[in-house]
Amino acid sequence: MTDPSAAVPADEDAGSRAQVAPGEPLVVLSGVNKHFGDLHVLKDIDLTVHRGEVVIVIGPSGSGKSTLCRTINRLETYESGSISIDGKPLPEEGAELAKLRADVGMVFQSFNLFAHKTILENVTLGPIKVRKQSKAEAEKRAMELLARVGVDHQASKYPAQLSGGQQQRVAIARSLAMDPKVMLFDEPTSALDPEMITEVLDVMTSLAKEGMTMVVVTHEMGFANKAADRVVFMADGAILEQGTPQEFFNHPKTDRAKDFLGKILTH
Ligand SMILES: Nc1ncnc2c1ncn2[C@@H]1O[C@H](COP(=O)(O)OP(=O)(O)OP(=O)(O)O)[C@@H](O)[C@H]1O
Ligand SMILES: [Mg+2]
Repeated sequence: MTDPSAAVPADEDAGSRAQVAPGEPLVVLSGVNKHFGDLHVLKDIDLTVHRGEVVIVIGPSGSGKSTLCRTINRLETYESGSISIDGKPLPEEGAELAKLRADVGMVFQSFNLFAHKTILENVTLGPIKVRKQSKAEAEKRAMELLARVGVDHQASKYPAQLSGGQQQRVAIARSLAMDPKVMLFDEPTSALDPEMITEVLDVMTSLAKEGMTMVVVTHEMGFANKAADRVVFMADGAILEQGTPQEFFNHPKTDRAKDFLGKILTH
């Protein structure tokens, strides 16, 4: 019997992702509102990210993308609505909050490594302190993760001795060392020199293929096309539209999205 999906012309990589069946809801935001003073930065945000799903968040500067990520990780408070991770509401503080932060990995635009600790120590710190692993156990796993992102031979160096792309890959390894349920990436390649962008995106693409649940703020279209299940477009604090990368990039519905895509595609 012929496979009907074989008739659908699609990018090979995008096709392989599309075959990953969506899992159950992992991150659920419902009616979330947040203000900074008079500024309404998150407006009635409803967003469900399923286990194994890769969601790209895209939109103009100031639309609330970073605030959205920071709110999911409880680095920002919110005023109304609800957020749950794996069925549990976001904890307010204390040990439960530390655990949530370990379950929700976050990689920022700036690399945020501890400057006075070696690469290996950067990766083992969380597993030892929060996950209560032994030093030997944490180091073994850290070396595996550093090898996976291609920086294991830099383990005894300090962050300043590495390139931006290498530091960002260490930041990814550091998050993975906590065995997070979901990884949030906020423009992880926008501070990098062009030749280093690919090496970081390659690591992220392989994570996506392995089934990691990911929320990624990025304007890297190639990555979005290859790795994303869904693109969410934000403007002025609201989610204006969402769809598969093919739907969104080829057939944006709102004028706001058309205008935005016109601007980034001509760059
Ligand atoms: N700590 C803060 N205090 C006051 N206003 C803030 C704060 N952080 C962000 N804002 C404002 O909230 C809005 C949303 O900011 P946010 O950083 O989430 O946007 P963004 O979509 O990530 O933008 P960019 O693409 O430039 O990173 C902006 O108007 C910003 O100026
Ligand atoms: Mg931002």
